[in-house]
Amino acid sequence: MKLLAFLMQTGGHMAGWRHPDAAPAALTDIAYFQHCAAVAERGLFDGVFIADSVGYPPARGDDVFACLETPKLDPAVIIAALSATTRHLGFVGTASTSYSQPFELARRFASLDHVTGGRIGWNIVASTMENEAHNFGLASHYDHTERYARAGEFVDVAKRLWDSWEDGAMLADKAAGRYTDPARIHGVGYQGVHFQVAGPLNVPRGPQGHPVLVQAGASDVGKRFAAAHAEVIFTSHSSMATAQAFRAEMHELLREAGRSADSCKIMCAITPIIGASAAEAQATRTALDAAIPLPVAMGKLEGLLGNVDLSGHDPDGPLPDVPESGMSKSTWEQVVGLARREGLTIRQLAAQVAGGRTSRTVTGTAADVADELEAWYTSGAADGFVIAAPYLPAGLELFVDGVVPLLQQRGLFRTEYAPGTLRDRLGLARPDNGYASGAYAPVRPEFIGNGA
Ligand SMILES: Cc1cc2nc3c(=O)[nH]c(=O)nc-3n(C[C@H](O)[C@H](O)[C@H](O)COP(=O)(O)O)c2cc1C
Repeated sequence: MKLLAFLMQTGGHMAGWRHPDAAPAALTDIAYFQHCAAVAERGLFDGVFIADSVGYPPARGDDVFACLETPKLDPAVIIAALSATTRHLGFVGTASTSYSQPFELARRFASLDHVTGGRIGWNIVASTMENEAHNFGLASHYDHTERYARAGEFVDVAKRLWDSWEDGAMLADKAAGRYTDPARIHGVGYQGVHFQVAGPLNVPRGPQGHPVLVQAGASDVGKRFAAAHAEVIFTSHSSMATAQAFRAEMHELLREAGRSADSCKIMCAITPIIGASAAEAQATRTALDAAIPLPVAMGKLEGLLGNVDLSGHDPDGPLPDVPESGMSKSTWEQVVGLARREGLTIRQLAAQVAGGRTSRTVTGTAADVADELEAWYTSGAADGFVIAAPYLPAGLELFVDGVVPLLQQRGLFRTEYAPGTLRDRLGLARPDNGYASGAYAPVRPEFIGNGA
């Protein structure tokens, strides 16, 4: 079983930061992240996952704004710092294909692969929110189709840049006076619709060849993108049945793309609310839910549905028809599906989404959580899990000290780290170099640099 710890905000529950054991002012304090990483490494996790966005919602004149969004330090900066205080733990950092350039992103992740000693993964996102577009000179966000077209080209260029240095191209040969081997460094000469990149990169190929490529979008186009590129899919399901169907569908799409099922690990988000007894866990959940005022939960719900306005509707009535959101189609489908399937009122739905419960929440003892993970894993619903503790770091500690030993006793999880990269740990092959294998055509020197 693979395990990642989700270090978004102060936990998977919107009110996690208000829990008595939550760390204050955590999100600007590297000691907080170091503590969480140490806990995850003590629990022998494959890695931690750092979500991100490149915008902050515009101010609104009510108290909702005071709790809707948390600050986010740059994931690359956090990861560089965490790599110095951990030895085995992997890191998945989020970065946007809509609001970055391939050269600078490929360089950042190649640098992180070196700095972490082969422990880096890239969560490829195309971004979802309008406010992100407004920070990059655009009046509105790229539409869904264009976003994925751009993302496809972006990843194609990034792979070429990572391959532009063949393994062994850095000689540092003191006797011969040759620092590099120019025959093993290649121009990229990429001429696409969205990107023109000369290359080569100015960073040698990292220990993993490419960072582990992670993806989370799950609309039809998102699933095809994942089948083409993703080595880990981070997905969210409220039931085991939908997770099983998703994994089976992804295996079929991988096969159509000429890839083996094994080449992509499917990891489901799980929020564990753990207590010494089921009643204690339920009390924690009730207290957390009560710490989110209704307007804040409504703000979260309206945002996930694509910034709709639900203020004119009775909170104790059903969710009205809302237009499909182009922000995140899969999230929209999940939230609307949850409301319809479970016959929830707007108020109940708002409480569910604010509690992080569009993914699976397990409220109970450590044994209840271990049972649930075992059932999902052995029934083929997932290759592993992204553990979104409701509050941090204490919620993650409860998992590491309570659930991990049970998974180990049942032979489902490692009892020590083996040496190796994040790729090795996840059972993913190191990619061949496209220039060395001849998959990428060499670029004639006169075409490097002029963009032709
Ligand atoms: C579990 C999960 C985690 C995600 N994490 C992020 C994130 O950290 N940053 C971000 O910009 N988008 C994130 N997304 C959004 C996706 O990357 C994707 O852009 C979005 O779901 C829209 O794609 P879709 O319409 O194909 O679903 C996440 C989505 C899911 C389901």
